[in-house]
Amino acid sequence: MRAPIAGIALAVGLAAAGLLSLRAHAASNPQVVTIKLPATTVDFKPGPNVATAQTNCLICHGADYVYNQPALSRTQWTAEVNKMRNAYKATIADGDVDKIVDYLMSANGKT
Ligand code: HEC
Repeated sequence: MRAPIAGIALAVGLAAAGLLSLRAHAASNPQVVTIKLPATTVDFKPGPNVATAQTNCLICHGADYVYNQPALSRTQWTAEVNKMRNAYKATIADGDVDKIVDYLMSANGKT
C-alpha cells in the first residue's frame, strides 16, 4: 500500500516543480507585446455644418469611416445617416439630417 502513496507524492511533487519552473520562465521572459495601430483620422476636415457632423457622427467612430467610403450621392449619404439612426441607434435630430448630409457631400460626395 505504500507504492501508490509514493506515486501520488511523486506526481504532486513533479506538478509543483513544473509550476515553479513555469513561473521562473515567465519572470525571466515577461511577454511584453507591442502593437502598432494604424493612424486614424479622428476629426472631420472643415466644411459646411462641420460642427453638426462632428457632434453627431463622431461619438461612435472616427471620421475615417466617412473618408474611406467611395464618394456617395446625396441619396446614398442620406440613407447612410438614416442607417446610423435606425440600425445603430444614433440620436440624430430630424432637423440635423440635411445639415449633416450637406457636410458629407462636401467631404466625400458625388453628383
Ligand atoms: C450610435 C453610434 C453611431 C453613430 C452616432 C454614428 N455611427 Fe456610423 N457606424 C456605427 C456602427 C456601429 C457602424 C458599423 C461599424 C463597423 O462596421 O465597424 C458604423 C459605420 C459607419 C460607416 C461605414 C459604412 C457602414 O454603413 O457600415 C459610415 C460611412 C458611417 N458609419 C457614417 C456615419 C455618419 C455620417 C454618422 C453621423 C450622421 C455616423 N456614422 C454616426 C455607429 C454609429
